[in-house]
Amino acid sequence: MTKHAALPGFRDFYPDEMARRQQIFDAWNDVARRYGFEQYDGPPLESLQLFVEKSGPEIVNQLFNFTDKGGRDVALRPEMTPSLVRMLGARIKGTPRPVRWYSTPQLFRYEKQQRGRLREHFQLNMDIVGEQSVLADADLLAAALDVLRTLGLTGEDVVARYSDRRLLRHALLEIGVSEEALPVAYNVVDKIERDSREVGLKRLQEIGLNDAQAAETLDLTSITHEGLQARFGGNPELNRILEDHSTYVGALSALGFRDYIEFDMKIVRGLAYYTGIVFEIFDRKGQLRAICGGGRYDSLFASLSGIDVPALGFGFGDVVLGELLKDRGLAVAHARSVDAFVMQGESAVAESRLLEVVAAVREGGLSAIYSYKASAGFNLGKALKAADASGARYAVLVDADHGARDETQARKVRVKMLRSGEQTEMSVAEFIAEARSQDER
Ligand code: HAM
Repeated sequence: MTKHAALPGFRDFYPDEMARRQQIFDAWNDVARRYGFEQYDGPPLESLQLFVEKSGPEIVNQLFNFTDKGGRDVALRPEMTPSLVRMLGARIKGTPRPVRWYSTPQLFRYEKQQRGRLREHFQLNMDIVGEQSVLADADLLAAALDVLRTLGLTGEDVVARYSDRRLLRHALLEIGVSEEALPVAYNVVDKIERDSREVGLKRLQEIGLNDAQAAETLDLTSITHEGLQARFGGNPELNRILEDHSTYVGALSALGFRDYIEFDMKIVRGLAYYTGIVFEIFDRKGQLRAICGGGRYDSLFASLSGIDVPALGFGFGDVVLGELLKDRGLAVAHARSVDAFVMQGESAVAESRLLEVVAAVREGGLSAIYSYKASAGFNLGKALKAADASGARYAVLVDADHGARDETQARKVRVKMLRSGEQTEMSVAEFIAEARSQDER
């Protein structure tokens, strides 16, 4: 056993894992760019109070928090949303709206470690601030789904389940749940797949519901849009929300994601601040925890920064996604990628001459390495073996100076393509152009 292993729930990223992490970050950055989002970041350590007030009990119980040497109560960020609201709240006046910002923070939660849940993870956060239209909700979910599509996952692999805090609220109030008891009722609905029906009924009875009301509340978890219309259709506010949902589904269909979405009243989201459409994305086989989650949080800015602007966003973790890509054979394999291994082609090459070629190749935008033992003794066979083992595409053989003090770019080198074994002579400049054009193919 090594003396100092990584802490439980923390990961070491060896090059193999780093390649897979980069694959996910590339997809995140690519989608954020294509959807027109600007990148931001905040500090990993924040005042404890920021999270205690805003994140809801589930996250607060999992905080990595401590008192710093200046006596401040601080916490490692368990999520990005409070930092985003704090930062943007301070600048919102001069910022053109809607604001479309994204970030890829590392987050820390003191959780019980299990498959898909660690004590640190990276999360793509995309948020839109200052926009009420449900088209923004649709665009945002499309972005989350596009990450999955970009990585090769289809509507047969993953599904976004969406619901609406407003719908649930209206339905629960109509059934007879009191305003104060709503958080408990939300929690019962949220946990319905984990807890038994009996546990749910008991908890609802404890907040004053009779048997029929408690049963009806649990039945909400499988209700359809049509069912909602039939049962609560007299409520004009609820009808307006149902119309929003038609627009939402229409927009997501037009954006190319109809196969990926399903209405599901069981989706509540654990965080306290959501106020409208909420969603979570899962693998269709149901083997993993949620891949991504988010929704509208129209009151958080007002309560944290005093400025009343609507907002919505999501958090998309790297852990569950990484597992899913591996399960489906879509994770990249790490390949060392060096363009040129530069070496002596004959014994009399001055070291400085070899290094000048290395420098020229690097300046030409290609990667180049060479043996630090080059001058210890000349052995072409050994050097070619080392070049092969390095994973380089080309071995570049520098021969002795035949008198002409020419420019490095014009010097002739022998180039061996290590994959085919083919060998040609060309100038350094020609080699750079050739290797770069091969790259683009
Ligand atoms: P969340 O549901 O707490 O939402 O996290 C979003 C995603 O982050 C989860 O679906 C999961 O993929 C990943 N995740 C969360 N905790 C862990 C963990 N311990 N280990 C591995 N992955 C994890 C939020 O954080 C909200 N702030 C998202 C948001 C942004 N809402 C609006 N804007």
